[in-house]
Order: sequence, then structure tokens, then C-alpha cells
Amino acid sequence: MYESKKPDAHGIVEYSPVENETWAILYERQSKIVQNRACDEFLKGLEVLNMPKDRVPQCAEVTKSLKKATGWAVSPVQKIIPLRTFFELLANRHFPAATFIRTREDLDYLQEPDIFHEFFGHCPLLTNPAYANFVESYGKRALQAKPDHRSVLGRLFWFTIEFGLVKTLQGLRIYGGGILSSFEETQYALESPVPERLDFDIRQVMKTAYRYDEIQKRYYVLDSIQDLFKINQLDLLGLAEKISQNIDQAEDFITC
Ligand SMILES: [Fe+2]
Repeated sequence: MYESKKPDAHGIVEYSPVENETWAILYERQSKIVQNRACDEFLKGLEVLNMPKDRVPQCAEVTKSLKKATGWAVSPVQKIIPLRTFFELLANRHFPAATFIRTREDLDYLQEPDIFHEFFGHCPLLTNPAYANFVESYGKRALQAKPDHRSVLGRLFWFTIEFGLVKTLQGLRIYGGGILSSFEETQYALESPVPERLDFDIRQVMKTAYRYDEIQKRYYVLDSIQDLFKINQLDLLGLAEKISQNIDQAEDFITC
């Protein structure tokens, strides 16, 4: 069972030599496999952040680069935080990061999002304005949403920020952090014949149930990362309400 580490009085989290080595292994392996698989915006963000390769970065270090790029910060949090706190942080451009790293035995399979998932999977794209604005907006809307509609709204986060694919001139690329922090899924998402890869359709996305504890069977594909700006303009709360109440007839539920 993982526990988040508490930052000291200066906000520094101390990681053991084994934990730093785990980061180094993950970083080296993942930064290679995302080449020609992650979207250009992600790879550019990875360069901008220029995170240490031999030790777990501190939140303050990553925050410094994010602040300059889009005004975002990374906030160290406990492994489990109330949902409301999570949304409030996002709405205020603070990305929550649980301060623990997976063990060597869990390198390839992790259900609990650790610091590698947050820093490597999400922070590079938080340097991109379309992605950064989208995440902030999602937090604000989730705060306004009625609790009964949040799970439908949550599917939007899942199929974009966590597991989104995008079309590029070079072919399909990944921008979802849940994929980009997983060695296995980074290959599977693009190359396996198993999962469906459907054009992004907001109604269909909100109607699609998902499993968080197994590899995905379906991905949704944006035409461009810039489309996140367009999605932000939609009446997402109205749509989530209709779909939650089955007013907008379900056409395509999958239960995996
Ligand atoms: Fe995540």
C-alpha cells in the first residue's frame, strides 16, 4: 500500500536512493518510447520542463517552468484527497501530485497515479495553452456540476486528459497522460489491433463507460490538440445533465 511522503518545512520531499533510481529507470525507458508516439506538443513540453533524469523532481522545480509557460503549478498532495479539493486545485491551475513513486515490482502496472504519472504523463502538456485551459475549465465545471452528473462529465476527462489520441500529419499520436506514463500502453494504444480508435464525438464520449483497472478497449481521437479550446466552448454541464438523465438517448454504451 502506497503512502504519500510529507514535504518538509521548505516544501522538499525526500526520496530514497532506490526511489530516485526507480524514477531514472522509468524516465529513461519512457522518454525513448514516446518518441514518434507522443504528439509534438508533449515532446516540446518535455524539453521545456527539462526534468532531472536521475532523481524524482521536486514540485517547486516543475512549477517554475509551468508558471513561465501557462501559469500552472504542481501541488504535493496526499494519495487520497476529497473530490472537491481535486476540482478546486484544477480550477485554480494547481495540478495535484501525490508524492510517492511506484516500487520496482510495479514498474509496469499501477492503478494508483504516482508522481511519475503526474510529472511525466501530465506536466509536459500543461505547458500547452489549449491543454492547460481545458484542465482548468474542467475543474471549474466539475465544481458547478451536480454530484449526479459528475461521473458523466468525468468521462470527458478520462477520454482526453488521461487516454486521448490525436491525429497529426505523421499519423496518430498520444496526448493522454494515462497512456504516456505507461510503457505497455504507449505501444498498445497506437499499434495493437485490439482497441477501437474512434473520432472524438462529445456525446459519444460522455455516453461511454470505462474501466480504470484494465488496459483500455476504446480511445477517442481529436483532430488537433487545439480542439480542446473548441470543446471548452460547449455547454458541457447541460450535456452531462441530459446524458445523466437519459434525455439524450444512449446509443453506444460499452462496459468493457
Ligand atoms: Fe492522471
